[in-house]
Amino acid sequence: MLGLIGLGRMGRAISLNLISKGLKLNLYNRSKEKLEEFREKANLFYNIDDFVKNTDIILIVLSDTKAVSDIIKSIPDQKIIIDFSTLHPVFVEEIKEKYKSYVSSPIFGGPKDIETARARIVFGESEDFYQRYNLNFLEYIGKVYFVNDSVKASAIKLASNFIHGVFYVLSLEFNTFIKEFSIENEIYEIQGDRPIIDMAVRYGKYYDKEVELSFTTELMAKDIEYARISAHSKNIPFFITSSAREFYELAKRYGLSTKDWRETWKLFKKTYS
Ligand SMILES: NC(=O)c1ccc[n+]([C@@H]2O[C@H](COP(=O)([O-])OP(=O)(O)OC[C@H]3O[C@@H](n4cnc5c(N)ncnc54)[C@H](OP(=O)(O)O)[C@@H]3O)[C@@H](O)[C@H]2O)c1
Repeated sequence: MLGLIGLGRMGRAISLNLISKGLKLNLYNRSKEKLEEFREKANLFYNIDDFVKNTDIILIVLSDTKAVSDIIKSIPDQKIIIDFSTLHPVFVEEIKEKYKSYVSSPIFGGPKDIETARARIVFGESEDFYQRYNLNFLEYIGKVYFVNDSVKASAIKLASNFIHGVFYVLSLEFNTFIKEFSIENEIYEIQGDRPIIDMAVRYGKYYDKEVELSFTTELMAKDIEYARISAHSKNIPFFITSSAREFYELAKRYGLSTKDWRETWKLFKKTYS
C-alpha cells in the first residue's frame, strides 16, 4: 500500500495528482485539519503508528530536517521511503546509514508543476530500484531523473536553489541602483545584450509587484542555509551565499516568511524609505 506523510503545499498537490490518476493512498499529517479535504478521497490516519503499519511505500514531503527527523523515528528501517523534501547531504548521509531503502528525491517545480506533470524529480536511486518497487506512478508528477545516489540528489537540488536565491539578491541591488539613478532605459539600451545584465533585468520584473506564491521566503532561507552547511562540510568558502543567508533571515524578520521569496524586494523599500 502506498502512503504519503505531509500535506503542506507540495504534499497536497502530489496527493491530489496521484488520487486523480486512480491511485489509492494512505495519508498522514501532523495537523489533523489538513486531512479533512481528503475525507472522501483517501484512507486517512490520525496516528502515525497506524499509518506506518498499513503502508509499505512511504512518500514523505516535509519542510526540513527537523520535520523529517521527528517523523522518521516512527518508521521501521525496512520500509521503502521516498523523500521529496529538500534536505542537505550531511543529513541525508546520516539517514542512509540507518535506512537502506530511504531515497532522497527532491523536486524541482512547485504545486502547479505537479498538477500539470511538469515537475522534475531527482531520484536518488537506480532505475532498477524504481522498477523493482513499481514506482512508475512518479511520472504522473513529472519527469524522473535517475542519479542513483541520495546524497548527490540532495546536493543537485541545493545547488540550483542557492544560485537562484543568491543571484536574486544581487539582482535586487542592481535593480534598486538603476531605479534610484533613473538609468533603467539607458542601461538596457547600452548593455542589455550582456548575459549578466539580461539576467538581472529578467529578475527585475518582480520588483514593486505582489508575486503569486510559488516558493516561500522561509523555504529559500532554509535551502540557502542548507547549501552553506553542505559547502562547509567540504571546506568550501561560501562568502556570498552566507551574506545572502543574512538577507533572507532579515526578510523573515520583516514578516515576509510566508510570502513568495521574490517579494523580498520589499526589504529594499524599507531600507530606502
Ligand atoms: N513549495 C514549493 O514550491 C516547493 C518546491 C520544491 C521543493 N519544495 C520542498 O518540499 C518540502 C515541502 O514544502 P511545502 O511547500 O509543502 O511546505 P509546507 O507547505 O510548509 O508544508 C510542510 C509540511 O511539513 C509538516 N511539518 C513541518 N514540521 C513538522 C514536524 N516537526 N513534524 C511533522 N510534520 C511537520 C507540515 O505539517 P503541519 O501541516 O502540521 O504544519 C506540513 O505537512 C520542503 O522541503 C520544500 O523545500 C517546495
